[in-house]
Amino acid sequence: MTTAHLIFDTTEDKIATRVKKMRSSAVRDLFAAATRADVISLSGGMPDVSLLPKSSIELAVRAACNDDRAVALQYGGTDGRKETRQVFCDMMRDIGIRVKPEQILITSGAQEALDLLAKAFIDPDDIILAEGPTYLGALQAFSAYEPDIRCIPFDEDGMRMDLLEQELQKIGKNNPRLKFLYTIPNFQNPGGVTLSHERRQRLIELAHEYGFMVVEDDPYGRLRYDGGHMVPLKAMDDQVIYLGTISKVFAPGLRTGWIAAPADVFKRVNLVKQGTDLCGSSFDQVVVEHYFTDTPWQKTLQKFVETYRVRRDAMLSALEEYFPPEASWTHPEGGFFVWVTLPDYFDTGQLLNEALEAGVTFVPGDSFYPAASGGKSSMRINFSYESPENIREAIRRLADVIQDRMELYRAFIAAGALSSGDERVTE
Ligand SMILES: Cc1ncc(COP(=O)(O)O)c(C=O)c1O
Repeated sequence: MTTAHLIFDTTEDKIATRVKKMRSSAVRDLFAAATRADVISLSGGMPDVSLLPKSSIELAVRAACNDDRAVALQYGGTDGRKETRQVFCDMMRDIGIRVKPEQILITSGAQEALDLLAKAFIDPDDIILAEGPTYLGALQAFSAYEPDIRCIPFDEDGMRMDLLEQELQKIGKNNPRLKFLYTIPNFQNPGGVTLSHERRQRLIELAHEYGFMVVEDDPYGRLRYDGGHMVPLKAMDDQVIYLGTISKVFAPGLRTGWIAAPADVFKRVNLVKQGTDLCGSSFDQVVVEHYFTDTPWQKTLQKFVETYRVRRDAMLSALEEYFPPEASWTHPEGGFFVWVTLPDYFDTGQLLNEALEAGVTFVPGDSFYPAASGGKSSMRINFSYESPENIREAIRRLADVIQDRMELYRAFIAAGALSSGDERVTE
């Protein structure tokens, strides 16, 4: 009888260097804790799919199972079904972007689009610009290709163009290492802020002056609760690479998004997608097509907007009521998130353990910076998923935890154990 024989003890020395540098997403890690019955989750970025009418889902899925099943169950073209691409062209026309179906490539959510762009354009040490903080899924996608990601801070009007210009002056014009600037202009994740019209215009000017591509990621644009529509960057300049997704306006479980890109970008991205998955899910595309063609999806979207507006308001008023005056936060006009900043001595990564004990989760701010290079005293909190009552309760619990920490800090200071402002309270 032969005994089982291990060829190697560990795969550690076989792992690619770039993978060793990867960090797991804090949001993914928090997923298990966030589903505990006693915990109110402010950590995810999930739409409330319970708001979707059952009749609309049934209609769309039935079509994929019956009349359209021959295509829905089959491989499709790498760029996606023409009919689905037409649906996305129509959706973009509503917001002022004019593209043809041939300029659209269907992806497995906007997340795959980020990975495909990174795979097609980033060599090690290439420079990528982004808001700081930025979407952590983008950081994960880009980091796999080992770029130098430089973060540009934002204020309530979005990315600071003066600071972007300073960074560009350091990089220089037409630097071949500078590949693209990644931005989420509407209700940014995690910041909740929106890029003003003037800054959008300035960004396009700078892209031409310094020679870089602009990637506009727009999952939240249609979820506006106050204020007027902003012209997308892609509507200002056809060279912009626009990323769309149905995840926040329909269902993220149907992994469907798209890239609208100039022909030369489209060609490269299509090529790398062939090696990734041959083609996206035909079934999902057919369901999406029917949902946006045959159901009252605009009415459902309105329901999403009205529900999220109430939840956003519940969060902002609870912050006003419970959080200490030393804290500051953004005031989003749409989307899913508020970005909170506490005094410098806070470490929100540590605070999360206490918050979990108190039955509330959030995402620590350093998750939204490359190599945790910032955001230590900040946090992202989400208002799209929980009821207004739960949101109020979660903010109250969080405020208690913050208050306890502040008292502890003050006691340390009074005892002379720390010098004010330059150390973090640790245990
Ligand atoms: C800014 C941003 N981009 C992309 C994505 C990924 O979306 P999708 O579900 O389409 O992959 C998200 C998801 O939360 C996001 O917030």
